[in-house]
Amino acid sequence: MDASTIAKPHDRLADWLADDMGAVNTLIQTRMASEHAPRIPEVTRHLVDAGGKRLRPMLTLAAAHMCGYEGPYHVHLAATVEFIHTATLLHDDVVDESAQRRGRPTANLLWDNKSSVLVGDYLFSRSFQLMTETGNMDVLRILSDASATIAEGEVLQMTAAQDLATDESVYLQVVRGKTAALFSAATEVGGVIAGADKTTVQALFDYGDALGVAFQIVDDLLDYQGQSSATGKNVGDDFRERKLTLPVIKAVAKADAEERAFWSRTIEKGHQEESDLDHALNLLHRHGALEATQHNAIAWADKAKAAMSDVPAHPLRDMLIDLADYVVERIN
Ligand code: IPE
Ligand code: IPE
Ligand code: MG
Ligand code: MG
Repeated sequence: MDASTIAKPHDRLADWLADDMGAVNTLIQTRMASEHAPRIPEVTRHLVDAGGKRLRPMLTLAAAHMCGYEGPYHVHLAATVEFIHTATLLHDDVVDESAQRRGRPTANLLWDNKSSVLVGDYLFSRSFQLMTETGNMDVLRILSDASATIAEGEVLQMTAAQDLATDESVYLQVVRGKTAALFSAATEVGGVIAGADKTTVQALFDYGDALGVAFQIVDDLLDYQGQSSATGKNVGDDFRERKLTLPVIKAVAKADAEERAFWSRTIEKGHQEESDLDHALNLLHRHGALEATQHNAIAWADKAKAAMSDVPAHPLRDMLIDLADYVVERIN
């Protein structure tokens, strides 16, 4: 069996893109610095040095290579995408009042909310500086549109949280915004900077969009079923935050009167006790909500793979196809 058939697709991608990712990491380190405000590198180093999967920048680099790009700007775009991601994580952990990220205490816990919000703003601004260096109006449009869409998704989620009437279509709208928008922009700009044809760029967008939806559905499953030691985040955050994620939406749809009263007390009214998370998990199991959610994630991953059939053959294309399966099977 050769190594390419045993390594995880994420590792194979990292291996293929190692030189470029080295350049991306160097660019991130340089641009996250600040001459005047030492709090900025303190906070960014805490989060950036903890690693993260670096999935989104690898998507950009892979898309550019698949389309035959030979210039330098895919590195800028990949760093831009990771900066946007990092900024949203800083803000997200404030909004979600999360205590753990990438296996470390969150910046909002170690410093404070003000530092996370302001350093997040700084990183957003740095990302825009970086992408202007490409001089390509199309990528500027795609990435600034994505940033606006992410913020819309987060705000929509905030207003849909704690509302038992939230259904699967609202959930999908939230997920497409807060997560898939950056995945699809990441793949699309890779194709655009390489000057790929319309069909290929559309296929890259469709792949990123479907992969992003699958990724977030799995993230929401892991919030109930994962292990903190693997995810680097606290299990049960979504329940405590009273979020209507897909597993809960499915269980609420099948709830009898007594179960509905439970969801109403814990999610709508926010009166939660120690044992409620376990009971919520029991209800998710009783109604097959976790399995059904897993099936949805698989369907989105299949959609992502199908989109790749419109992209010319390339070893990286095969890795991205495998990545779609890996995203559904992942434990972190
Ligand atoms: C976390 O994304 C935010 C979500 C969209 C669920 P990742 O799981 O890609 O975070 P890192 O970068 O690997 O930490
Ligand atoms: C992730 O949202 C999306 C963004 C960061 C914009 P979540 O709140 O679901 O992600 P985690 O679980 O905190 O990583
Ligand atoms: Mg969160
Ligand atoms: Mg959130």
